[in-house]
Amino acid sequence: MDAEQIVELCKRHTVFSWAAQGKINPLTVDRAKGIYFWDKSGKRYIDFNSQLMCVNIGHNHPKVVAAIKAQADKLVFSWPGSATEPRARLGKLLSEICPADIDKFFFTNGGAECNEAAIKIARLYTGRHKILSYYRSYHGGTHGAMQLTGDPRRWATEPGAPGFVKVMNPYPYRYRFGSSDEEITENNIRYLSEVIDYEGPQNIAAMFIEPVLGTNGIQAPPKGYLEALRDLLHSHGILLVADEVMAGFGRTGKWFSHQHADVVPDLMCMAKGLTSAHLPLGALGMRAKIAQHFDDNVFSAGLTYSSHAMSLAAGIAAVEATRDEGYVDNAARMEEVMRTHMRELAAKHPSVGSYRATGLFGALELQKNAAGDPLSGYNETHPAVPKLIRALLEKGLFTLSHWNMIFCNPPLCINEEQLGESFKLLDDCLAITDDVYEG
Ligand SMILES: Cc1ncc(COP(=O)(O)O)c(C=O)c1O
Repeated sequence: MDAEQIVELCKRHTVFSWAAQGKINPLTVDRAKGIYFWDKSGKRYIDFNSQLMCVNIGHNHPKVVAAIKAQADKLVFSWPGSATEPRARLGKLLSEICPADIDKFFFTNGGAECNEAAIKIARLYTGRHKILSYYRSYHGGTHGAMQLTGDPRRWATEPGAPGFVKVMNPYPYRYRFGSSDEEITENNIRYLSEVIDYEGPQNIAAMFIEPVLGTNGIQAPPKGYLEALRDLLHSHGILLVADEVMAGFGRTGKWFSHQHADVVPDLMCMAKGLTSAHLPLGALGMRAKIAQHFDDNVFSAGLTYSSHAMSLAAGIAAVEATRDEGYVDNAARMEEVMRTHMRELAAKHPSVGSYRATGLFGALELQKNAAGDPLSGYNETHPAVPKLIRALLEKGLFTLSHWNMIFCNPPLCINEEQLGESFKLLDDCLAITDDVYEG
């Protein structure tokens, strides 16, 4: 098929996520390798968002591809009640990389299902029903994960299930809890404490957080915040659930993003980087006290494809490659390189306001004036933003935007030169948003 036929048939017979179907114009993707992919015409693109922040170790990693092929020759699938070698090996491997006593895992097909399981397990373990999460958050597109989600993607599923309570993040959209890390932490924790009183701590099972926030800001919390949050929750017997789906597996320069603080979550949700997107897989990790609870009580969750042998084989190879090929350290090393490029762009382009990077988890925030007002407001898209994204694509750089943010999340195997090339392309195109800067 040629590119035109592919796009025409995909649009005619398949549905694209989160979009009015008449308004989309998808890019063809034909093959991929490392930080690059190629469209059907043979044009090469730098993947500056690791697709959906998931291809952490790069596309078509040869060891992962080989592991998938070898597993396919031996055993593609057996039901989730069976014990298989890939299941034994990935469980053990995850117990080695996960912190403290998180050493038992339930396998799902992705991040949303993992959060679904975490909601259920937190409720079963505590005997409580309410769940706290942030307004600035995304936890997945299934029904329960949508109720956890604070951002506007939730609205289409409302009225949802009862028992989900949203709270403001330490950095809400407009409101300010303070200026220093200490002040923000103190005021946000005081506010959360009051919410907990209003909801009745004896009713609250868990609070879900993205320890370094993903699509809602690519933002690390204030220093000391996660420790204070953990103390508050634990003082009421409320579980801390870390959604590491996007920020895990080296993205932030540590194996898991909560490891930038001195906390251990009670439940940990993983997906994306777990296989580096080579096959769908999620894993819910739990601390020993929770795992032990289910020695005598039924672990009331299940999926036909839980512990699918092919995905587990991909997971083993991807985690081993992440560990053995130094991608976590590379992400940590590249943070300053990326931030230096961002600083240079901000100095040169008036439309670049603030910028952030934790490891290779980064974003540029576009502003419309010297006061720093965002170029696109809450849940809006200024027309110059998609124009910028299209211009980047034409030059061979793929990335995504969210409101006024331009995401900078390349595969963790990127080197300094490739980062330089990527930021040069951004530099070449930012005149588009500079043109609508109001001064
Ligand atoms: C933090 C977070 N949690 C959960 C999910 C949902 O994962 P999935 O799309 O694999 O269901 C995502 C997806 O982007 C995410 O960023």
